Amino acid sequence: MKINGRHYRTIWLNPDGRSVEVIDQSKLPHSFETQTLSSFGDAVEAIKNMIVRGAPLIGVTGAYGLALAVADDPADNAIEAAYAELLGSRPTAVNLRWALDRLRDRLFSTPPPMRRTLAYSEAAAIADDDIQACHAIGEYGAALISAAAPRCPDRPVNILTHCNAGWLAAVDWGTALAPIYKAARAGVAVHVWVDETRPRNQGASLTAFELLGEAIPHTIIADNTGGHLMQHGLVDLCIVGSDRTTRAGDVCNKIGTYLKALAAHDNSVPFYVALPSSTIDWRISDGLREIRIEERDQSEVTHICGRTERGETARVRLTPHGSPARNFGFDVTPARLVSALITERGACAANEAALQSLFPNLANSA
Ligand code: MRU
Repeated sequence: MKINGRHYRTIWLNPDGRSVEVIDQSKLPHSFETQTLSSFGDAVEAIKNMIVRGAPLIGVTGAYGLALAVADDPADNAIEAAYAELLGSRPTAVNLRWALDRLRDRLFSTPPPMRRTLAYSEAAAIADDDIQACHAIGEYGAALISAAAPRCPDRPVNILTHCNAGWLAAVDWGTALAPIYKAARAGVAVHVWVDETRPRNQGASLTAFELLGEAIPHTIIADNTGGHLMQHGLVDLCIVGSDRTTRAGDVCNKIGTYLKALAAHDNSVPFYVALPSSTIDWRISDGLREIRIEERDQSEVTHICGRTERGETARVRLTPHGSPARNFGFDVTPARLVSALITERGACAANEAALQSLFPNLANSA
């Protein structure tokens, strides 16, 4: 997608053939900066500190991180150690493990002297595959938005989204926002309700930044607003992303997603989840019991960062000194609240049989 008229991916290999460049998402929307990942340790820190974030992009960054480790030492034990450290950098999005497994399997079937070249080309292939998947998700999801348009003859289709599942969360296009971009480019009038997504505000900062860049009409709302909008007929459909979807269709996504799904269910608003197959964890069925929910530092709840009128970045405390806070990163929306999963192979019901019929090889090899 474009920033100031120039096409960007979120991650790319630098001309030196070794270091990797990423968009520093912690600086957006106020400042567009890139950061160079020159070492395996840089990649781990970028994932941990959310310089890069979003399930598909975490996976691709993990793959390039492993390539950086291999460039230093292609031995089996060095690869295993780098794999373990990268895997622990963020626990919930399964795309990280998926990408690391894909790359490690290929490395271990290749002699050490050839591993460096292979690692970089496989990381690039993982990035390219993600773009293809998000592109296809966009086409299938746009069809659902177009189908809603005749029910909104004299106004745009109102879509609510949570967190950032746009191109910044992937390599390009995104998951939940790809259908919106495709529908808008096909001439469907859309308007997006953007949940601010406390505590890190990925909606208010990143989704709004993306939609502004694509000139898509949108409105930022406080996280608690969605239910009220749905009760008053102001949301035609919801589309969110996923960090891990079980084989039974339970969806783990940014904290607050479950509450939106409940409100959508109560108001008969379709609730769609867009995800590439790399987000499906075929090993597990029960999202509530089997997914480890990342718990981050409480300072993300007690403090907020923003830009002052003078153009300075400032971090301020919101809460009284002495009040403890907890910061759960994700929650699980049970499959029964999901109207459809939008994947790179089409939309399907959120259940095991439907997922298995779209991805028979993946389901059976888990
Ligand atoms: O903590 P984040 O910003 O990495 O969380 C991201 C999300 O929850 C997204 O909705 C999800 O990864 C889907 S991204 C295509």
